[in-house]
Amino acid sequence: MRHLMNPLDFTTEELDKLFDLANDIEQNPAKYAHACEGKILATCFYEPSTRTRLSFESAMTRLGGRVIGFSDAASSSASKGESVSDTIRIISCYADICAMRHPKEGAPMVAAEKSGIPVINAGDGGHQHPTQTLTDLLTIRSMKGRLDHFTIGLCGDLKFGRTVHSLIDALVRYENIRFIFISPEELRVPDYITEMLRARKIPYEEVIRLEDVMPSLDMLYMTRVQKERFFNEEDYIRLKDFYVLDTAKMALAKEDMLVLHPLPRVNEISVEVDQDPRAAYFKQAQYGVYVRMALILTLLGIQVQ
Ligand code: NCD
Repeated sequence: MRHLMNPLDFTTEELDKLFDLANDIEQNPAKYAHACEGKILATCFYEPSTRTRLSFESAMTRLGGRVIGFSDAASSSASKGESVSDTIRIISCYADICAMRHPKEGAPMVAAEKSGIPVINAGDGGHQHPTQTLTDLLTIRSMKGRLDHFTIGLCGDLKFGRTVHSLIDALVRYENIRFIFISPEELRVPDYITEMLRARKIPYEEVIRLEDVMPSLDMLYMTRVQKERFFNEEDYIRLKDFYVLDTAKMALAKEDMLVLHPLPRVNEISVEVDQDPRAAYFKQAQYGVYVRMALILTLLGIQVQ
């Protein structure tokens, strides 16, 4: 039995197969419409979500399967004090696969150890968000045709942004990737990540001003300041509008630079940028469904001819 806790749980060859499958699902949805008939996905979300939970539910429904679950801890037995390990043992009796989001780092891993069914980490605290990374990689591969040889700027909350941590982990395995980290001092990417990059001799720069690096980027990954992970409201208010991507800044960028964002956006991308053909974030959300469909099929070991 296989779980997905970290984007590195799949080799790059396995990821290629997963993305080929996701692209085939995009092209031939009818072929997969009954692939998961009789199967049940449990979505156990101890933390708010729109996209991730609904895209999992949409993915399973589009595969002909069914979905059960809860969307906040207050409506589950966690509010009565039940442990994640006990909850997953019970869920294993009710469902064939589980997607779990939890505010505590590592909670889905604890669940996976006691689980009788595949568990997918749908975001654990400020740590990892592997299915967002699969979404990001599929978007880049589908729109650029490759996952190597580019400069990517990651901008915003690089400290608490779990999507950023997972994406960096995944990209270091591809050839000739250069990272530019754009953040205020307080929201710099964690030291364990820069140490890993130095150890692997992967080039990176850390800067504060987005304008300065805009012309050199092939990809810009914008992120929201993660309000829920701040200890004090004043800091959040001071930092929340530090970056706003607008048409003036887009004018500095390459003609084929992609703008990605895991969403939800707050103010960090002005709505006027949505019209720009380089804005890929809504398309990215669509890829999130195809890649989750491919992931469910892969973890359940279902092959469609
Ligand atoms: C992200 C998350 O939950 O980490 N959202 C998502 O899953 N698309 C990003 C965020 O909340 O800022």
